Amino acid sequence: MNRLVVVSNRVPSPSAPGNQAGGLAVALDGLMAKRGGVWFGWSGQISANAANAPAAVEQADKVSFVTVDLTQEEHDRYYSNFSNGLLWPLLHTLPELMVFDRRDAQAYREVNQRMADVLHPLLRPDDLIWVHDYHLMSMPAMLRARGVRNPIGFFLHVPFPGTDLLANVPDAASLIRDLLGADLLGFQTEGDVENFVAAAQSLAGALAYADGWLQVPGRRVRLGVFPVEIEPHEFATTAAEAWRAQPAERLRRSLHGQRLILGVDRLDPTKGLLQRLAGYRRLLDARPEWCRHITLLQIAAVSRKEVRPYRALRTALDREAGSINSEFGDPDWTPLRIVARAGARGTMAGYMREARVGMVTPLRDGMNLVAKEFVAAQDPRNPGVLVLSRFAGAARQLDAALLVNPHDPDDMADALDAALRMNPEERLERWQSLWRSIEHASPLIWGRSFLAALLRTVLVADQPTSRPRLRAERGAEGMSLVRRTPPVPASPTPRQIN
Ligand code: G6P
Repeated sequence: MNRLVVVSNRVPSPSAPGNQAGGLAVALDGLMAKRGGVWFGWSGQISANAANAPAAVEQADKVSFVTVDLTQEEHDRYYSNFSNGLLWPLLHTLPELMVFDRRDAQAYREVNQRMADVLHPLLRPDDLIWVHDYHLMSMPAMLRARGVRNPIGFFLHVPFPGTDLLANVPDAASLIRDLLGADLLGFQTEGDVENFVAAAQSLAGALAYADGWLQVPGRRVRLGVFPVEIEPHEFATTAAEAWRAQPAERLRRSLHGQRLILGVDRLDPTKGLLQRLAGYRRLLDARPEWCRHITLLQIAAVSRKEVRPYRALRTALDREAGSINSEFGDPDWTPLRIVARAGARGTMAGYMREARVGMVTPLRDGMNLVAKEFVAAQDPRNPGVLVLSRFAGAARQLDAALLVNPHDPDDMADALDAALRMNPEERLERWQSLWRSIEHASPLIWGRSFLAALLRTVLVADQPTSRPRLRAERGAEGMSLVRRTPPVPASPTPRQIN
């Protein structure tokens, strides 16, 4: 078996347990633990001599964690400003939140270059390289520039926006070209693939083929959809146990029989937290009969404090929470509880099982694993209801949830009302349908299907006989080239949508 080398900004090494926030780590942990290999990226530390220090290596079971520190300036410009202040809002179609400074783009390239410099000598000829997420979009090209001929896969955990939005990024074309150094580019949804194809055509001069291939000078690149999954059975067991444990028990007692509405998010502008509170306010306002019978618990784990919109959001959320509580609360009833700390994953699982309604209403999200976790956490005999944003990647699979527009407080209030009133039969029917859409998946299957597709991609791209035949066809993006014959003889892996 080829050695797997995973490259991601955050590396959840055993000595940095706090370095694990977010869906990316959830998705990769299991695969790495089972398969072993190298996990390379940022240590989560800042140090003055980071640029000259050797990488730190830590072995834990089958995984070698190889990490580098960042200098303060790299951290500010590459991580805070360019990755999280510019790319993150851009990729989530929130351009009004973008913070832009040309020097940040330079720092982003330099950190990607330094990472490639450190990784390159560690690579073996038979390694499979799998790069993750928006912090490292230049890595594929940087590795190629250093002569790396190994298969390189890249997976984008966040959405990919329309081409017109990309014009907001300094030199977006280079970012696209850098990504095209990979052999296989994986996305969460078909919409993301379509947007990327349009960007590659118009910004990088790529030719697109009907079945998920792009031709760029000298190479072909495969695109695929690989929705990230959770481990549903394991999460269900954790939730059942945690529901009986102290934290959930204390929460239950504190509710005095009120129905719990639960949100669990990083405190992030993309998660639609202010809009969620607006929906809750509308519910209390329009349907006062719910007052004193429900509680919204919003876990909003503080995240990326260095980035201005995140700090501003925290202030605005606290203000709005105070306003809801003072307007609708009673001396003995608090409608909204907000907690700005992340709890343990198990504790959250217990809370999810306790909740009558799970609110997962991001303005936009690549996937949103909390939605899948909420489904897995439910008691199959008495499940809660998922209220889910249409703009989360998870909505493609979890369409038996109550789907809402997070920008529309009335829509959210109506969905909350319907969820709270829903009879046990409908709750069960919806939950069973949701469960069926996640029960056979796992991060391991997800990871294996990506890696199998990567290997197949490289095999096929290397065959001279598989050169595509082209025909001109007018598509949505104007004139594009579409190949008649399928290039991949092997059967597609489950979940890979071509
Ligand atoms: C999302 C991103 C990850 C990121 C995580 C936590 O899940 O896709 O790449 O690591 O958020 O954000 P942070 O800025 O703390 O790494």
